[in-house]
Amino acid sequence: MSLMFSSPVVTPTIGSFTFSSRRSNYIVMSAVRSNSASTCPVLTKFQKDCATPTPYLRNVANAIADDMRAGLAVEGGGDLDMILTYVDALPSGNEEGLFYALDLGGTNFRVRSVQLGGKKKRVIATESEQISIPQKLMIGTREELFGFIASKLASFVAKEKPGRFRLEEGRKREIGFTFSFPVKQTSIDSGTLIKWTKGFKVSGMEGKDVVSCLNEAMEAHGLDMRVSALVNDGVGTLAGARYSEEDVMIGVILGTGTNACYVEQKHAIPKLQSNSSSGTTIINTEWGGFSKVLPQTIFDQEMDANSPNRGEHLYEKMISGMYLGEIVRRVLLQMCETSDLFGQFVPVKLSTPFELRTEHLCKMQEDTTDDLQTVGSVLYKILEVEANLNARRRVVEVCDTVVKRGGRLAGAGIVAILEKIEEETERMGSGKRTVVAMDGALYEKYPQYQQYMQDALVELLGDKLRHIAIKHTKDVSGLGAALLAATNSIY
Ligand code: BGC
Repeated sequence: MSLMFSSPVVTPTIGSFTFSSRRSNYIVMSAVRSNSASTCPVLTKFQKDCATPTPYLRNVANAIADDMRAGLAVEGGGDLDMILTYVDALPSGNEEGLFYALDLGGTNFRVRSVQLGGKKKRVIATESEQISIPQKLMIGTREELFGFIASKLASFVAKEKPGRFRLEEGRKREIGFTFSFPVKQTSIDSGTLIKWTKGFKVSGMEGKDVVSCLNEAMEAHGLDMRVSALVNDGVGTLAGARYSEEDVMIGVILGTGTNACYVEQKHAIPKLQSNSSSGTTIINTEWGGFSKVLPQTIFDQEMDANSPNRGEHLYEKMISGMYLGEIVRRVLLQMCETSDLFGQFVPVKLSTPFELRTEHLCKMQEDTTDDLQTVGSVLYKILEVEANLNARRRVVEVCDTVVKRGGRLAGAGIVAILEKIEEETERMGSGKRTVVAMDGALYEKYPQYQQYMQDALVELLGDKLRHIAIKHTKDVSGLGAALLAATNSIY
């Protein structure tokens, strides 16, 4: 999973403006002096529209759980795809041998090799490389994207140190391919792309088997490797976290995009046409597609209308890292146009989509100085605007409103899944612990977001929360994919 907050497609043009700290100090002082307070109707209305009091969150959690049930009953039954992943067995710890993980899902892709040594030795050696994907490939053709990936994979394998990594004779190198977009899986090692998200729009892919696309490209590069498992990053996180902790039942990604995958009882999946209705399987919820009872504002609607996946993934567009900065930018722009937020003019940069990114919001919310120096510097550096103290305070309020709504809605989603698991297993009821494995830069790097998410869990679960552990499991999805390649090895 990518650790970027930014939009992968719309690159802000930074221009030739350079930030000088001396000049910024001068601006900070003069700006503070010219403080002018007034009310701001845009902000007041926005805060009201974004409110998520506990009863509202309860409705959201119930509606997500209803859509989960509907999606488990029939294909397309609800907003959530509830994808069957064909992962019935999570890692046991007995996995042995050399396996690879290839992770495509954001602005970077990652290749990893993992030498597994079974119960005693666990991970004997691992090496990884992160490669950033040129922007043009994210909106280019299938051949270009997969050709690039295969070429980087080939050079990664070529650099492998034979003493550290050992492939058993007669075996091909097996890959766990993490492809972090909605895919209709047809088996553990095949699946067709349903749609692109997170700003990707590679042509010639929708409806195509993603593993065949990779195979074709690997063949063209003379790479004799095979994909043994096609997994979502949420599934990879769940599998990777389960390797070291038995009670992990849910994997959640809160990064550029968002998703959650969890362990479901087969008997609770009417659409599963299988002879056995016993045991468990992993469901990829694709919860980003949820769209009901959401506190959508005019700013969300306009951002959605201008996105490449218009009308889709509305929950993702309210809670994930790619979008929070852009929502704030849109609100600030309107505040500027209607109530002189930054004086008489509208800064050019404020009119540029995705110029303000979630990482900037995070930086501004970390500011504890009386005169909000960091907020002033960020606004000056990113939007090229001189903001007085009053304006800085308002900017922080907008950031907080968006981040609070996002974190709380994400919390409601987690509660929906926890309660769905409880419905089938009564784990909490019997005093059993349930671990939620969390990953993604938004969760990791934005303390306020994390806190708001936690608040929602406390409000909705109350005392039951003592049976739940929310754990940050950083970057385990690659390990999880390699482990699933091992579990599904053809040898
Ligand atoms: C995709 C999911 C993915 C999530 C996190 C979403 O946009 O639809 O498949 O798991 O991003 O990477």
